[in-house]
Amino acid sequence: MLLDRLNRTLRRVPGWTVYLAGLLPLAWIVWLMLTGGLGVDPVREIEHRLGKIALWFLLGGLAITPLRRLAGLNLLRFRRAVGLLGFFYVALHLVAWLWLDMGLLWSQAAVDLVKRPYLLFGITAFVLLIPLALTSNDAAVRRLGPGWRRLHRLVYPAVGLGMVHYLWQMKVITGEGWIWAGAATALLVLRFRPRRVMQG
Ligand code: HEM
Repeated sequence: MLLDRLNRTLRRVPGWTVYLAGLLPLAWIVWLMLTGGLGVDPVREIEHRLGKIALWFLLGGLAITPLRRLAGLNLLRFRRAVGLLGFFYVALHLVAWLWLDMGLLWSQAAVDLVKRPYLLFGITAFVLLIPLALTSNDAAVRRLGPGWRRLHRLVYPAVGLGMVHYLWQMKVITGEGWIWAGAATALLVLRFRPRRVMQG
């Protein structure tokens, strides 16, 4: 069957290729930066592009289990890489704001947080993702035992907060915003009702 062949091929794909492929969007941003392809407000463009890429990876990570259960596509081997790439892009997105936008001035950052409270939702999401990134290695999985799965459920509130942050910064939610919100809601619902939805 086609799916079996695809899963067999995927089993042979080395994990590092996912990291390499995941860095391509960053390379593209750097290329645009160097060639002046980021328009009239490059800082805003960098911030927005990094935020969007972070969202792709975070939702991509959430999609891996339902894809296996509902479609039989086995990407579980790549879940760690996809999650870590999501964290990496959120961190870069935060650095872009703090460094390029705020000029590393804490007082200015504090003023911005008051002016744009949706940033606090993004920061909370980032903070929730830190322990997940730190415990994504095999040693932590062994050490934490069943607690590891419980801890990693923090990804759900993190994605929820990230979505609120994204939609709120839009002011008026566009069609694209609704599509992302719909995708995130569907993935979260699938995770919270796994047995009934996926086996029924
Ligand atoms: C899970 C965490 C986060 C996710 C998923 C996320 C995602 C996004 C997305 C998708 C956008 C809009 C991109 C677009 O419209 O093209 C955005 C905008 C933005 N985000 Fe985040 N973000 C997160 C955390 C953060 C953090 C920690 C900060 C740092 C304070 C931050 C600062 C910003 C800023 C400054 C903007 C631009 C807002 C504007 O132009 O008014 N985000 N974010």
